[in-house]
Amino acid sequence: MRSHRVTSHTLRGTPRALLTASAAAALALAATAAPAAQVEVLHYWTSGGEAKSAQVLKQMLEKKGDTWVDFAVAGGGGGNAMTALKTRVVAGNPPAAAQIKGPAIQQWGDEGVLLPIDDVAKQDNWDHVLPPEIATIMKYKGQYVGAPVNVHRVNWLWINADALKKVNAQPPATWDDFFKVADALKKAGITPVAIGGQPWQEAETFETVALGVGGPDFYKKAFVQLDPATLKGPTMVKALETFRRIKPYTDDAQTGRDWNLATAMVINGKAAMQFMGDWAKGEFTVAGKAPGKDYLCVAAPGSGKAYTFNVDSFVFFKVKTPGVEKGQKDMASLLMSPQFQETFNLNKGSIPVRQDLDLSKFDACAKKSSADFKAAGAEGALVPSWAHDMLVTPAVEGAFYDVIGKFWSDPAMSAQEAANKLAAAAKTD
Ligand code: BGC
Repeated sequence: MRSHRVTSHTLRGTPRALLTASAAAALALAATAAPAAQVEVLHYWTSGGEAKSAQVLKQMLEKKGDTWVDFAVAGGGGGNAMTALKTRVVAGNPPAAAQIKGPAIQQWGDEGVLLPIDDVAKQDNWDHVLPPEIATIMKYKGQYVGAPVNVHRVNWLWINADALKKVNAQPPATWDDFFKVADALKKAGITPVAIGGQPWQEAETFETVALGVGGPDFYKKAFVQLDPATLKGPTMVKALETFRRIKPYTDDAQTGRDWNLATAMVINGKAAMQFMGDWAKGEFTVAGKAPGKDYLCVAAPGSGKAYTFNVDSFVFFKVKTPGVEKGQKDMASLLMSPQFQETFNLNKGSIPVRQDLDLSKFDACAKKSSADFKAAGAEGALVPSWAHDMLVTPAVEGAFYDVIGKFWSDPAMSAQEAANKLAAAAKTD
């Protein structure tokens, strides 16, 4: 279900005296400063942890004297948001800023609708603090058009610590261990794996299994190079079979379930584990749970040395309303500022994309993410997540989602048939 709500900033709940004093101060300021820019921001951060993170952005932008106009489109993974965005751009009325990532940035660049923010990037030295593989994604024809906010790791397994204790098990490091633990949990009456019902959730789980089963070189050959022989080869078949083996360990109420509701099952002990990127940690944090005590974050089986990355970023659209550009540039600069990167990522579950920040305020999962990001980068085991828009075109991604979704729900489809379909899907224009 697509929900589209646009709300403007209000001062609800502010005592009248304060309001008068701050209004007077604002008036005094207005005499000297540029008028407040209205910045309409399209995003899809609507779960508990996500909304808290979006709030950080809104508050910091308003501190710069700009007005946040909320254009939140619910739907994890952002599929609904992208549909809403297309409608607005086609109508000639794009939002000032939109949460877009990966190759879609190039596609919007090709449309000629993006506002370059290279001046901000130069002034704030982005080239010096961003990993080069991420800086490249943010540039169109050599100029920055995107501002990155974080690095999410996708190949995580989240585990309810009590559930694991109940079956006397250790976090599984291999697929054999994983299925042993899952059997024990099932016997103990705990749903071993929580998963929701959106195509991207199945795709993300499969992507993680494929990395764990085949390793980063296989992943790159299959999904970066889109090599047909690898896409339909024996390792892919094995990955698909392993993915399918997970299904009996999930519950029957998957259809239509949002990812954060699946995370809630792990938080409250209804289920033991979830394969999910570390936006899930934002939900554990909002629920007041502590890593290492209430829950565990471990790399998904077989993928400990590898790292699937997913970087959230914003692009800015050329808009006709005068004055908006000031707000857009304020926002671009804010997104990459050390203070924003720290506070936002503490809430979001991700780590800062800036490589020059001190992580002492971050928890053990974030520190592990950062160390693994660096180690995987050095080993050639850092790979972009195709399930989260970081690698293939939206058309190929959609075609992959279809194959994986059908394979997950149709026991009659063989793994080899699905692999052949993946190879065909890679050719989608
Ligand atoms: C985004 C995250 C978001 C998640 C669930 C991912 O594609 O990168 O920021 O929290 O989807 O909505």
